[in-house]
Amino acid sequence: MKVLVVDAGGRGNAIAHAFSRSDKVKEVFVAPGNAGSNFFEKCKQAELNGKFVSSIRAIDEIVEFAKKEDIDLVFVGPEEPLSLGIVDRLEEEGILAAGPKKEATILEASKCWANDFMAKIDVPIPEYENFDDVNEAKEYVKSFENGIVVKADGLAAGKGVYVCDTVDEALNAIDEIMVKKKFGDAGNRITIEERLYGIEVAFTAISDGKTVKPFGHAKDYKRAFDSDDVIGLRDFYIGITKKFYSTKDIERLFKEGRLLNPNTGGMGAVSPHPAVNKEIEEKIMEMVVEPIVKKFKEIEGKEFKGVLYPVIMLVEENGELIPKVLEINVRDCDPGAEAKLPRLKTDMFELSMAVINGELDDINVEFDDDWCVAVCAVSGALKGREGLKPGYPSDHYTNQPIDGIEEAMKEAIIYANGISKPNGYQTTGGRVLTVVGKDSSLEGARKRAYNVIEKIKFPGMRYRKTIGLDVPD
Ligand code: AMP
Ligand code: GLY
Repeated sequence: MKVLVVDAGGRGNAIAHAFSRSDKVKEVFVAPGNAGSNFFEKCKQAELNGKFVSSIRAIDEIVEFAKKEDIDLVFVGPEEPLSLGIVDRLEEEGILAAGPKKEATILEASKCWANDFMAKIDVPIPEYENFDDVNEAKEYVKSFENGIVVKADGLAAGKGVYVCDTVDEALNAIDEIMVKKKFGDAGNRITIEERLYGIEVAFTAISDGKTVKPFGHAKDYKRAFDSDDVIGLRDFYIGITKKFYSTKDIERLFKEGRLLNPNTGGMGAVSPHPAVNKEIEEKIMEMVVEPIVKKFKEIEGKEFKGVLYPVIMLVEENGELIPKVLEINVRDCDPGAEAKLPRLKTDMFELSMAVINGELDDINVEFDDDWCVAVCAVSGALKGREGLKPGYPSDHYTNQPIDGIEEAMKEAIIYANGISKPNGYQTTGGRVLTVVGKDSSLEGARKRAYNVIEKIKFPGMRYRKTIGLDVPD
């Protein structure tokens, strides 16, 4: 069988790697993929008429490739092509595709809609209200005392969420989203939530529309810097403000809460999530996942097929941990997938076919008992031709030469997030590559990931040192 994975980053390469482990699969293509899509046996970056596919949004090119190569199954990673209707289009063209149809992507594409839906079906969520009027939104935030979260309604590439400590910060967030239109039309409406405190879990489930089963979980490390990485924070803020700060200045400003440790798409992940046991997994399935899939069909008449990834906060209430949903995603997590999928024992091809054919009930979705620690190397602060740039998640240099990938690959799994290979390997993005250590102990997996990442070098390379440690994040 021939499989096509649609994704540009590390998650796509992890999905392709999972497919390649199936005896039924002869070849796996990744579109657009990256130079790291060729790291695994049977896996290749897709080429159409001698060129790589231009983007995850290039649905015509993807369909053309699938037809030319006689692809038996397409698996779609990111939300953007899903919400553009890539699964509907592939089906119209007679190509099997595992993933939700366009109408089902509303669960992720509208945070206001998702909150209203979950409130209606009694899935636990933070206290919230939706607004399309700036003044009413500003009035509402004044009623909060313990932190406020302001979210743009639509897709904003993971950047439309402001977790605020004070009313002033929240007022500012409302202005940025609704008045300055930082995220365009995605900010025409906003949802404002009480800020929750607890244990955050990247939880995933897989559904064929009728049956839904757990699909593994991870702890996702989202802050850009370790909380004691004063030098990293200093270089980042010098890069942003173009003003000089000493490490002492930064230490003081950070302690006073005047410097934010920026949120990212993820700097690393650990799977399984150290705080999630069987009982909590069952609770999340019963209280969150099953009602969402079941009522989505019953009340809204929409079927959810594919990977459902609710971001959960486990909140302690009367001595019990309650899973409350911070947001729903209609795809797998990144870099959670990189930490989770090396542990998948179930045949990925059979699983995907069961999702398409409504036969998930017959499949055992199983992960092994190992731990995986995934550490992302990102493009950090660097001085170059255009002066000093602060680095990911802000402005960063690309096209930097990378050394040591081949050596590293012999000892750990490398899922590339953003690399090319014009001659040698080069960086192409903020997240560059993810090194995954796998072992029967968490400490062993951590050691392996960190020993191996040290073999890789590129100008500006930066990574967190605390992935896999129990640190607040
Ligand atoms: P989202 O993109 O909605 O997952 O939000 C990004 C991050 O913001 C989440 O991973 C959480 O860490 C945080 N967040 C979102 N909503 C809340 C909330 N109501 N309370 C606390 N943290 C939140
Ligand atoms: N790591 C966050 C996400 O995949 O949305």
